[in-house]
Amino acid sequence: MQNKKISLIGAGQIGGTLAHLAAIKELGDVVLFDLVAGLAKGKALDIAQSSAIDGFNTSLMGTDNYVDTANSDVIIITAGVPRKPGMTRDDLLSTNLKIIKQVADGIKDTSPNAFVICITNPLDVIVMALQKYSGIPENKVIGMAGVLDTSRYKYFLSQELNVPISEIDAFVLGGHGDTMVPFPNKTFISGKPLSKYIENGKISHQRLEEIINRTRSGGAEVVKLLETGSAFYAPAASGIEMAESYLKDQKKVLPCAAYLNGQYGQNNIYAGVPVKIGSGGIEEVIEVSLDEDEKKNFDVSINAVKELLDAAKKIDPNLE
Ligand code: APR
Repeated sequence: MQNKKISLIGAGQIGGTLAHLAAIKELGDVVLFDLVAGLAKGKALDIAQSSAIDGFNTSLMGTDNYVDTANSDVIIITAGVPRKPGMTRDDLLSTNLKIIKQVADGIKDTSPNAFVICITNPLDVIVMALQKYSGIPENKVIGMAGVLDTSRYKYFLSQELNVPISEIDAFVLGGHGDTMVPFPNKTFISGKPLSKYIENGKISHQRLEEIINRTRSGGAEVVKLLETGSAFYAPAASGIEMAESYLKDQKKVLPCAAYLNGQYGQNNIYAGVPVKIGSGGIEEVIEVSLDEDEKKNFDVSINAVKELLDAAKKIDPNLE
């Protein structure tokens, strides 16, 4: 059987980590693409040189030519500029819109059947632009956000409650910005609702609120510490989980930025919702029932995405 092919557009911090994880997990042949050819080639060679030690058998190459990415099964895009301290994800809009147009032009004819995962920020608007620019069907173009946001939320809760992270069942939906929506009423720890932990005094309402806010600014906290770039280990791990579910038809339900066509009362917009990822791409958008408060918070988040989308349409009227 022919190996699967995974192309990573952008060989920076996240791209390099994606390549390393994909290689170690032997998900398929890995192609690292970057405008800076040496960066892509150097990282591919460096990772390949660790294969004898880690015992993986993965072909890796670096390139600045889209022809080398042709017929990819999965494409993960991180091309763009990351945040600097004090910048929001939204500040990246005009630069990353131009970059994503170039990427869409590079992949649309060479890999029209790929499952395309976008990580470049501001996520919800960039993934929508990517879908429109590339014409790749909506069920094959997805954004990575909720997996990461949920992982941060679970981590902070596990630290606070001193429970293993694997015991926490939770998700974060909405846009990948300051208005993202963790759902405390739908959070379970070892099968018990989080509200029981509040009742038992294990965590106060105020601490929970602080954790929710820390989740919302989880990326900014890392940006501030790093000073020279944004998070990359956790974003890469999140992208790989989505790619693996597609490549192995695992049909995992993961919170991702997906195209909404009536679901959650929204039309023609990308936003974070739970989706089932299998060999058909996004096989289902799962509609969880939201109580009044949750719906209000979700709508606030969607409205923030819409505002940014309007700003994007002003920059490029073709996005209408
Ligand atoms: N085509 C291909 N690669 C490009 C292009 C382009 N048009 N423009 C920029 N790049 C490459 C850069 O050369 C760089 O190597 O994208 C890479 C981005 O890597 P980093 O600067 O290290 O950024 P990273 O931390 O990986 O984040 C990338 O993901 O989470 C988001 O906000 C983050 O938008 C940012 C993106």
